Amino acid sequence: MDKFVIRGGNPLVGTIRVSGAKNAALPAMAAALLTDEPVALENIPDVRDIQTERKLLESMGAEVELGYGRAHHRTTICARSLGRPEAAYELVKTMRASTLVLGPLVARCGIARVSLPGGCAIGARPIDLHIKGLERLGATITTEHGYVEARAERLKGNQVMFEKITVTGTEDLMMAAALADGETVMENCAREPEVADLAALLNKMGADIEGAGTSTIRIRGVEKLRGARHRIIPDRVEAATFILAGALGGGDLLVSGCDPHHLTALFQKLEEAGVRVRVMAPDTVRVMAEGELRSTDISTEEYPGFPTDVQAQFMALATQAEGSSVITENIFENRFMHAQELVRMGANIKIEGRRAIVRGKTPLSAAAVLASDLRASASLVLAALVADGETIIDRVYHIDRGYERIEEKLRGVGAQIKRIGEILPRRASMLAG
Ligand code: EPZ
Repeated sequence: MDKFVIRGGNPLVGTIRVSGAKNAALPAMAAALLTDEPVALENIPDVRDIQTERKLLESMGAEVELGYGRAHHRTTICARSLGRPEAAYELVKTMRASTLVLGPLVARCGIARVSLPGGCAIGARPIDLHIKGLERLGATITTEHGYVEARAERLKGNQVMFEKITVTGTEDLMMAAALADGETVMENCAREPEVADLAALLNKMGADIEGAGTSTIRIRGVEKLRGARHRIIPDRVEAATFILAGALGGGDLLVSGCDPHHLTALFQKLEEAGVRVRVMAPDTVRVMAEGELRSTDISTEEYPGFPTDVQAQFMALATQAEGSSVITENIFENRFMHAQELVRMGANIKIEGRRAIVRGKTPLSAAAVLASDLRASASLVLAALVADGETIIDRVYHIDRGYERIEEKLRGVGAQIKRIGEILPRRASMLAG
C-alpha cells in the first residue's frame, strides 16, 4: 500500500494546475449509457475513480477508450450494446458514485440492477431518494440480495420533489428523465456546478433540459439521444485544496485551470481568516498568506454554501489560526475522522456532535498518520506541509481516488513530498488521433 513521506516547512511558490472535476466526469461517463453513439469527454482527471467507472461501464458491455497524455486527458465511451445492465457489488462497494448508472440504465434498457452501495466512511449515504424519484417516473423497484432492480417499459415524466438535496440523486433523475415520455419538473434540486455541467452535456446529446444549477429543473423527455463531445469543468475541490495549501504554506502560489466562480464561499471565509486570494485570470487565482491567520467559523451547506468536501482541508488551516474556529458539518454524519489524526500531530480539536472546535495556533509535529477517506487524506497532506519534521501518511489510495498525482503537483511548487511503496500503474497510453 502506498505511503506519502512529507517534510514540512517549505513555502509553496509557483503555479499548480487543477485537473478536470472527478464529480463532473463520473456522471458524464454514466450519461454515455443513454445513447448508442460515441460520447467523447475531455479534461478527464487521471484518478482511481475514473478507472473504476471505466471497469463498471465495460462490465455492462460499453466500449471505453481512456487516454492520458500531456495534451489531453480524455475518454470516448460507446454503449452501442449493453448486454448486462448491472453494476456489481465488487465495483459499487469501491465507489458509491456507481449508483449514477441506475437512472441511465433503466431509461435506456428498461431494466437496471445496481448493488446497494453499503456503508461509507463518512456516513450511511442511502440512495432512497434516487429510488423514490425513479418510482415517481414509473419505475418498478425491488430490492433483494443487496441489489436494487428497477424496471420500466418507458419512464414517464412527472413532478419530483426531493425531500433532501442530493447531488447524485439530482443527476441520476435528470439522466433518467431525459428519455422519459413527457415532461418532468424536479424541485429542491442540487445546484452544484457538476449538475449544470451534466445538463450541458445532455443537451448537447439532444436532451431538452432547463434550470440545471438552480433548485428547479425542467426536463422534456425525448425519444433518443445522440453522441456528443464535451469538456469537463475544473475540479473546484482540488482547486480549494491547493488554495488552502498556499494559504498554509506561506508562499506565493498560482492555482491555474480552475473556475473562481465555483469558489466564492471559500474565498469569503479565507478573507475572514486573513488570506488574500486574487483572481489573476479567468482560470487562475493567486494565494499569498500575509501575517497571522485569524480563527474563522464555517458551516457546511449545499452549493453555493461552504462545501462539505472542503471541510477537512479547512480544518487543517484552522489549526494554524489564532483563536477558536467552530466547524459545523451539516451534510454527513461522520466526517470528522481527520480530526483525531490532526490531534496526533499536535492540533487542539474537540468534537461535539456535528461541531468541531479547533483552538489555534498550535505547532504541528510530524507523525505517522492514517488516511481514512478522500478529503480527510487531503487534510493530512496539508497539515504535513506545515508540520515540523517528516510525516508519513499511510493508505494514500484514498487520495488517489480524487487527486491526480498530487505529490507531483505539490513537488512542482516546492513541497518536499514523495510516494513510497508499490510502483504506480503505468500511465495509460495516449489516445490515438
Ligand atoms: C456527492 O455525493 C459528491 N460525490 C460527494 O463528494 C459530496 O460530498 C456530496 O455530493 C455532497 O456535496 C459525487 O458527486 C460523486 P448527496 P452524493 O446525495 O451525491 C443524504 C468527494 O469527496 N442522502 O448530495 O452521494 C446523504 O446521506 C465526494 O468527492 C439521502 O439521505 O451526496 C447526505 O447526508 C464525497 N438519501 C446528503 O443527503 C439519498 O438518496 C447529501 O448527499 C441521497 C442522499
